[in-house]
Amino acid sequence: MTIKQYDFLVLGSGIAGLFFALKVADRGRVAVVTKKNRAESNTNYAQGGIASVTSQEDSFELHVQDTLRAGAGLCHEAVVRTIVEEGPARIRELIDLGMRFTEREIPFGNGARELDLGKEGGHSKRRILHAQDMTGREIEHALLSACERHPTIEVLEDHIAIDLITTQKLGYVKENRCLGAYVLDNRTGRVETFAARATLLATGGCGKVYLYTTNPDIATGDGVAMAYRAGAAVANMEFIQFHPTCLYHPQAKSFLISEAVRGEGGVLKTFAGCEFMDAVHPLKSLAPRDIVARAIDHEMKRSGADHLWLDITHQPARFIISRFPNIYHNCLRYGIDITKEPIPVVPAAHYQCGGVRTTVDGETDIPGLYAVGEVACNGLHGANRLASNSLLEALVCAHRAARVIGQPEPPDAGIKIPDWQSGNAHDVDELVVVSHNWDEIRRTMWDYVSIVRTNKRLQRALKRITNLQAEIQGFYWDFTVTADLLELRNIATVGELIVRCAMDRKESRGLHYNLDYPETDPALAQKDTVLHRDL
Ligand code: FAD
Ligand code: SIN
Repeated sequence: MTIKQYDFLVLGSGIAGLFFALKVADRGRVAVVTKKNRAESNTNYAQGGIASVTSQEDSFELHVQDTLRAGAGLCHEAVVRTIVEEGPARIRELIDLGMRFTEREIPFGNGARELDLGKEGGHSKRRILHAQDMTGREIEHALLSACERHPTIEVLEDHIAIDLITTQKLGYVKENRCLGAYVLDNRTGRVETFAARATLLATGGCGKVYLYTTNPDIATGDGVAMAYRAGAAVANMEFIQFHPTCLYHPQAKSFLISEAVRGEGGVLKTFAGCEFMDAVHPLKSLAPRDIVARAIDHEMKRSGADHLWLDITHQPARFIISRFPNIYHNCLRYGIDITKEPIPVVPAAHYQCGGVRTTVDGETDIPGLYAVGEVACNGLHGANRLASNSLLEALVCAHRAARVIGQPEPPDAGIKIPDWQSGNAHDVDELVVVSHNWDEIRRTMWDYVSIVRTNKRLQRALKRITNLQAEIQGFYWDFTVTADLLELRNIATVGELIVRCAMDRKESRGLHYNLDYPETDPALAQKDTVLHRDL
């Protein structure tokens, strides 16, 4: 089979992958490989917006301090400063590419307009640029349209990357360099070889590792699993962020109720209808996410309630509908009129703060392999991401990765990449085993490795996941690869990495809360949890 040769191979078509593709498009041929349709990504569902300093009443220092405070002693301060300070320039570029943020009339400004800034948990100022409550959809649309105008960018839908190709895997011993990836074309069932001078992982997060998540189906941690298998360091996977307010309704799959609703005065209430956050944190319902999610979890366990309430009915209906049209209409579909009644909410897995360890320029420890966006861990988020910092991070780091890569060198001409070997694999005969294992991993992670952990729960989870991994590895060798099977293998790997990082951190910090070590250990501040696969 012929090798598909590109200058740049981008895995993923969310904000990180597309912004990077646009930045390198003038320097060569770019393949953007994406596993479903081109817009399907976490980016597409982002609601609240992008945090960045654009107002006279705000400052870089305040944004930095808010990020560091939320990150609970684990952020890399130099990285935080870089990302915060470079944010406004990247936002300007996004606007130049066609992104339209919501504006408002300046009070007493004779009709002049300015950006409408939202507020979210942990932010000391209004600084969230948004497009009503559909920021991600607008960003994705603007970036995809810009890519379509670029003749050197090719977007390949329904293509799922299976594994990275590295010199070490091919048996070359000089250095472990990334050469590209094996990719399953889901429409033909064929595995193709993509070779590139530089490969960017922009595959997003891993919400689907948990039974309940705000994430769409694509979020199966493929990038972290692939990088780990290839020998890259993976860090801080114990810090999984649970969003406090996912819609609770039997027919609603993964629908988020943006933190911006609380930013506009929405109040969390117990099932019995009482406000309870006042006793937990001075910022009440707008406290940092780890604190709110833990308080909700505690309240649900204490009362045995299936959900709590988020109440914004005190705001005028006109305001609610124009500020949150997506949330309003979606809730209405399920019979909930948010202008008149409170919204039933539960916490759900939302964001992966750890990931493939990188510099702020997206460099992994494998030459030729870069990672940007939710898949990466560069030190910005520490132990808990500040709301709306991830879209900002993706823009700044994609720009910086494109700059540091420059014009990448071709690999050694003597290196030959073999075709994908499928050996004696045959079609899966009992699909039920694959779906059963999916379910078991997601339930195990939810029951034992979610908001509150204990040593015993972590040990149980590791044992179950390790047993399942042995079975999945068997399927992987015996059966022809399918998207379901590949994702199953990846959620098992990522589940294992989350559990092992959680076991390594013998304290509670930020999003990682272990009843057996309920205190934060000052000696562990600035200590990332790092895992490598023995090759
Ligand atoms: P994604 O946007 O998730 O893109 C990943 C891409 O990789 C997808 O195209 C996917 O199909 C592809 N992919 C994955 N695996 C493979 C594979 N094996 N082969 C090929 N392609 C693959 N953050 C904010 O800052 N502000 C917000 O308001 C906000 N709201 C959010 C609301 C929701 C409901 C969710 C789920 C997240 C929200 N976040 C928000 C987080 C933010 O959206 C994500 O962190 C960010 O969009 C990640 O961008 P990304 O480009 O790294 O990954
Ligand atoms: C939200 O709108 O609540 C999500 C914001 C984020 O995850 O950053």
